[in-house]
Amino acid sequence: MKSLNNSWNKFIYKIASPIYDRFFNSGIFLNARKQIFQAIPFNNKQKILFVGVGTGADLELINYSDLDITAIDYSPDMLGKARKKFENSATTFLEMDAQNMDFDNESFDYVVASLILTVVPDANKCFQEMMRVLKQDGKVIIFDKFVPENQKLSLPKMLLRPIISVLGTDIGRSFKELLLNNNIKVEEDTPIMLNGMYRKIIISKMN
Ligand SMILES: C[S@@+](CC[C@H](N)C(=O)[O-])C[C@H]1O[C@@H](n2cnc3c(N)ncnc32)[C@H](O)[C@@H]1O
Repeated sequence: MKSLNNSWNKFIYKIASPIYDRFFNSGIFLNARKQIFQAIPFNNKQKILFVGVGTGADLELINYSDLDITAIDYSPDMLGKARKKFENSATTFLEMDAQNMDFDNESFDYVVASLILTVVPDANKCFQEMMRVLKQDGKVIIFDKFVPENQKLSLPKMLLRPIISVLGTDIGRSFKELLLNNNIKVEEDTPIMLNGMYRKIIISKMN
């Protein structure tokens, strides 16, 4: 979608930051996050990266004070909200473009990507970066909305897509397309919200 570019996103998420949690960290979103994150066996020996951490909604659900967490976001305003919430934690918050990360290859045991692959201008680039910084035996956890496999975007969604993209997210992306040309194993792909529009996906690298 044309309107998804970094400077526009920065502007949109600046406006959204004060009210973001009211919509995306409550109700069905909070329930979905709980189902996903309370089941992940994070431990304190692992290095965990949150890509596009936003206000830190996922962090609230895990035992963050015992974990080695790095969290990046392109929006200083969203990051500011997260920094404030977790100011007494050891979590490292960095302003960084998820499409061009400043980390060495194979740095993280877990890469968490909630509602980011459908927000960045170039999902492929972001995905490649997530896989690059993931350790060989690491896992990527994705919570996001994608077009259901083997289905086309419905007409109402097709019409709404350009309007919604102005608000900083794309409802027409396919997860399957991200997997093309990637040597990846899908370990889990579970519908989690809104009839499977939102999914929990866990992937790892093929050996
Ligand atoms: C829909 S929010 C999701 C936030 C959080 N992960 C969550 O689940 O609530 C999308 C986030 O991606 C961030 N973002 C957008 N473009 C980005 C980029 N190029 N690099 C890093 N973060 C980006 C936005 O600033 C925003 O915080």
